[in-house]
Parts: sequence; C-alpha cells; structure tokens
Amino acid sequence: MSDLYQGFTASAIGKQVTRLLGLPQPARLERYAEGAALVDGTVLVGGRGRLADELVGILDSLGVAAVTDDAGADTFKGLVFDATGLTSSAQLVELRDFFTPLLRRLDSCPRVVVIGTPPDQARDDERVAQRALEGFTRSLGKEIGRGGTVQLVYVAEGAEGAVHSTLAFLLSPKSAYVSGQVVRIGAHGSKDAGAVGDWLRPLEGRVALVTGASRGIGEQIARVLHRDGATVVGVDVPQAASELQAVMTELDGDHLVLDITAKDAPQRIARHLREKHGGVDVVVHNAGITRDRKLANMARSEQGDRFEQVIAVNLTAPERITRHLLDEKVVNDNGSIVGVASIAGIAGNVGQTNYAASKAGVIGLVDALADELDRGITINAVAPGFIITQMTAAVPFASREVGQRLNAMAQGGLPVDVAETIAWYASPGSTAVNGNVVRVCGQMMLGA
Ligand SMILES: NC(=O)c1ccc[n+]([C@@H]2O[C@H](COP(=O)([O-])OP(=O)(O)OC[C@H]3O[C@@H](n4cnc5c(N)ncnc54)[C@H](O)[C@@H]3O)[C@@H](O)[C@H]2O)c1
Repeated sequence: MSDLYQGFTASAIGKQVTRLLGLPQPARLERYAEGAALVDGTVLVGGRGRLADELVGILDSLGVAAVTDDAGADTFKGLVFDATGLTSSAQLVELRDFFTPLLRRLDSCPRVVVIGTPPDQARDDERVAQRALEGFTRSLGKEIGRGGTVQLVYVAEGAEGAVHSTLAFLLSPKSAYVSGQVVRIGAHGSKDAGAVGDWLRPLEGRVALVTGASRGIGEQIARVLHRDGATVVGVDVPQAASELQAVMTELDGDHLVLDITAKDAPQRIARHLREKHGGVDVVVHNAGITRDRKLANMARSEQGDRFEQVIAVNLTAPERITRHLLDEKVVNDNGSIVGVASIAGIAGNVGQTNYAASKAGVIGLVDALADELDRGITINAVAPGFIITQMTAAVPFASREVGQRLNAMAQGGLPVDVAETIAWYASPGSTAVNGNVVRVCGQMMLGA
C-alpha cells in the first residue's frame, strides 16, 4: 500500500529523472510523534485585530515559542496573522506586506494560519474584506510547497478565548495533510473551551466509540484517541471480530461486534455504552463502504442493491445511532460527534452516485444537528481525500496515481492524518468548534 512514486522521487536517480521531466516532487511530510513538542521551531505572530494582543500568550500556554518581531529568529516554523482588523478591501494589501518577506524564511513543513471574523458577522466593507481572506489562504496553500499548510480560521466575536485547541492542531504536525481549509470557531459552548488539563492527554477519562475500528482509518482513529487518553470502544462487523478484538486488547479498550445497519444497532450500542461505561463522550462514525458503478449499471441485482447498501451503512446508520444516543442522553455533556464524509461528497465522482450521496448526507447531518445540539455537545465532520488504505488499494492503478498526485502535496494522506483531525474535534478544548467540515486531502484539486 506504499506510494511507489514518492519512494522513487526520494532516490537520487528518481529525483534527477522526475525533476528533468517536470514531474511532481512530493515533500516528506512531518508527522506528530507521541510526547513531542507541538511545534518544532518559532512561530511569528502578526496583524492587528481582536486577537492580536492575546495570541502570544495563547501560544505560550501551549508551549509554543512565539514572537511578534521577525528579528526574533532567522527562520520560522509557523506564521499566524490576525486579519480581524481588516475592515476594507484596500487593507488586504497588509497580507502581502506581512507574508511576502517571510515566505523565504520558513522551515520545512511550515504552518500558516490567518485569523478572520466570520463574514456573516461582519457588515458592508468589512464583510467583503473578511470573505476575501478565503481566496488568499486557499491560493497560498497551493503555492507554499515543501509540505507547508495554510488555513483560515474564522473566530466569532466572543470566541477569542476558545482558539487554543485549534491553533495547537493547525500549527503542529498533527495537521500534516490538512491544507486550504476554512475552520469556524463559534460562541457554541465556548465558555469551557480552552480548559484542557493536559495537552498531551486531552481525552483522559473520556470514552470514545469508533465504528469500523478493526482496520484502516478506524483503527488509526482508535489508536490516536487512545494515545490522547481515551478509553476506546471499537465496533465492527462479525467478519472482522478477531481483528477488532486484537486492536482493542492492545489499546486496553473495549469492543462490540455488530453490523451498524442492524435494526437494533442503536439500542444495542446505547445499552452497551451506558451499562459498561456510564455513557460516551466521543462518537466517531467511521465505518463505511464503497460499491462503485455508474448509475446506469446500478440496478438492483441478485447480489443485492449496491445503492441501498452504501446509503444504509454510510448514512442511515450514523443518523439513527446519533439520534438515539442523543435522545437517550447517552452522549455526555461537552460530548463530540464526528462524521466521516469524503471529498467525493463535495465534488462528486464518476461511479460514486451512491457513495457521494451518502457522504454529502453526512455533511447534511452535521448541518442539521449543529444548531440544535445543547449541553455543549458538538458535531463536525472530516472529509478525507485520497488516504492510503485497503479501500483505496482496490482503486485501479491509473485512477489511484491521479488521486494521489492531484493535490497540493502530490501524495496520498495516511490514516493517521484523518485520526489527528478527529482527535482535535474530540478534544474538550474544542467545544466551540461546531458544524465544521474539514477536508483532509492535501488540498486536492477536485471540488471546493
Ligand atoms: N480511504 C480513503 O481514501 C477514504 C477517503 C474518503 C473517505 N473515507 C472514509 O473513511 C472511512 C474508513 O475508510 P477505510 O479506508 O479505512 O475503509 P476500510 O474498508 O479499510 O475500513 C472500513 C471498516 O468499516 C467496517 N464496516 C463496514 N461496514 C460495516 C457495518 N455495516 N457495520 C460495522 N462496521 C462496518 C469494515 O469492516 C472496516 O473495518 C469510511 O467511511 C470511508 O468512506 C476513506
């Protein structure tokens, strides 16, 4: 399942040949090592606005070396620009004035974060200027290279104190494959946000349910949530029972063997969580299937209904389970529900009308519930791009090569990249992160 092309470009001959032919040169992405500092270098903070005075203190509290003067270091690992003070389009030039001289002074895999005011909270000229930030950050993400990432974080008025967990994620190697994203931090539950005892084990004492946990992305989600201190309850189908049990035993977790589409699955999950764990804090709907075929060839057959099966596993089951766990108050206060969508659900894909409908529906579930949730509970989704797993190993070679290369990082992501994003949503410091859909796609050229 490794990326042969990337391996080739890393060899001496491969580097020469691919450079000569003008082919993509995927950078080696830095990933987070357990126990390491969040940021291996200095972060320069600039701009003017609502957060400017707080940012250095916030980064200090995360153990991140932050300075406001570019004489403070020769090179920088991260740049954070507070753009909330930009109230007219003429002021957008301040972005250029800040960034242009610094872009040649960045370390490998640099992190850039621009902070803005949600456009729908701004008016007139300010709204225009704030909306413009999106084009700026998405373009810089495509330009920055060397494994760098660029994000826009819209912070609502009143949520300035709730940015810690998001900055910790976006400035660290945990967000290795997340770029060109727009994150919204709202006032939702923000009074408790930022209150994380131990940044190395933010999920200490929390219980996390992960569906499809026996392999692939789900297994990695279980591992990362366990690393962050959670007790993980893994769910998978009977055919995967022994793999599931092996993973969960290794993680000192618990497991539940069931098909999430079973009629009584929501009730069985709820009963198990309540009786064995007294409830649940994090629910990750990761289990998913593909049954690709063009719609013209998707008629019901003797082998079953490919359309119906995909909708049932990927969408109806997460919907039913979520509603039941909420209705029965099995989800604890400040809990976190996370859907796993896909960029196919945003951009569409040939042969995937069923899959893309199910994944767009997962985004719909986030939209539907984000405003109605109470008790500090949040719902968000990740939308992975091309992630190297058994699911994508089944993709034919040519499509797989295109899928891996057609993104700003010229490579596929790893399951851990999706898992780290989910761990950020699940953190008790993220109670103000609600209703987001963040793509983990290396800024794929497909879709928005
Ligand atoms: N791999 C990618 O590139 C990619 C991209 C976008 C989205 N995703 C999504 O990420 C999730 C995980 O994908 P993966 O690549 O790890 O897939 P995978 O096939 O390796 O793992 C999926 C897991 O879900 C389990 N599962 C399937 N149906 C189930 C059911 N009815 N009840 C309980 N468990 C069930 C499987 O047994 C398996 O363990 C899926 O939702 C997938 O759609 C993956």
